[in-house]
Amino acid sequence: MSSKKRIVSGMRPTGSIHLGNFHGALTNWIKMQNEYDAFYFVADWHALTSEYEKPENILKNSQDMLIDWLASGLDPEKATIFIQSQIKEHAELYLLLSMITPTPWLERNPTYKEQILALSNKDLSTFGFLGYPVLQAADIIIYKANAVPVGVDQIPHVEITREIARRFNRLYGKVFPEPQATLTQSPKILGIDRRKMSKSYNNAIYLSDAPETIAKKASSMVTDPQRARKTDPGDPSVCNVYEFHKLYTPEVRRNNIEEACKKAEIGCVECKKIMSQNLIEALAPFREKREYYLANPNLLKDIIQTGNQKAQAVASATMEEARASVKL
Ligand code: TRP
Ligand code: SF4
Repeated sequence: MSSKKRIVSGMRPTGSIHLGNFHGALTNWIKMQNEYDAFYFVADWHALTSEYEKPENILKNSQDMLIDWLASGLDPEKATIFIQSQIKEHAELYLLLSMITPTPWLERNPTYKEQILALSNKDLSTFGFLGYPVLQAADIIIYKANAVPVGVDQIPHVEITREIARRFNRLYGKVFPEPQATLTQSPKILGIDRRKMSKSYNNAIYLSDAPETIAKKASSMVTDPQRARKTDPGDPSVCNVYEFHKLYTPEVRRNNIEEACKKAEIGCVECKKIMSQNLIEALAPFREKREYYLANPNLLKDIIQTGNQKAQAVASATMEEARASVKL
């Protein structure tokens, strides 16, 4: 038995990973796989809660996302990497938890209301969408997670998970630890148009973008909106390009750029070129690893199969306990 604390986290399969996803979650996952007994999974059933009318992209998106996970450094030797829908025990626990979850907990969930408004082009008045956090609770507690590394937007879901675990334990005896949310801090990088980076806004830079594509996207990035001409001094602290420099340009060089921008000694065109060159270079090892996985599809299959087996072993042991607790 490992003495490491167990963490569980999932991501809905939206396809290729962009820099927003990468710096928002994946870099933390990669760091944490060294210190924790980490379980990371593709939440494809969760994707179905909003994509049920058009499910045909989910599988391909899952594959693309998995390749990006591996190419960017998630290590199957360290972390258990698997696919939610392959571990049927999640569904069984979800059913048991649904019996004890009061519907008002779900109806007052802030992300529920927000998402229904935000995705008004979809009919989300379904049982499955309301039950999203119950499925998420099952995902987490079936592995008896101690902690759940997530962004702030997921805090309400982890809170509902704790409440459901507590209620189960009170009704049937203690089976589940109450997991803590571990807030992951992330840099504030935005899309090339300065809105939140998102696939649906068409403003994202992907880890798998070709160097030419990155250069082109970088050149069209919105900078300090107050700086109209090269002769105007700029303010790096409000410039999204500078946020990228913080991640990809060595400190000394970056400090020069900051100075030069404030004194109007560097133009945005040149500044973006420097940034994109560094970004392209930083992503070179990723591109190489990704090509390797694309050329060896059986490798991905084996990794997932092994991950699924490991996850399944833990999940089925927990389910035996859970069934016995509810006297079934
Ligand atoms: N709801 C999460 C998101 O949208 C994805 C998710 C599903 C998840 N199950 C989970 C995250 C369990 C952490 C733990 O990002
Ligand atoms: Fe931003 Fe660079 Fe232009 Fe300054 S010079 S506003 S940091 S892009």
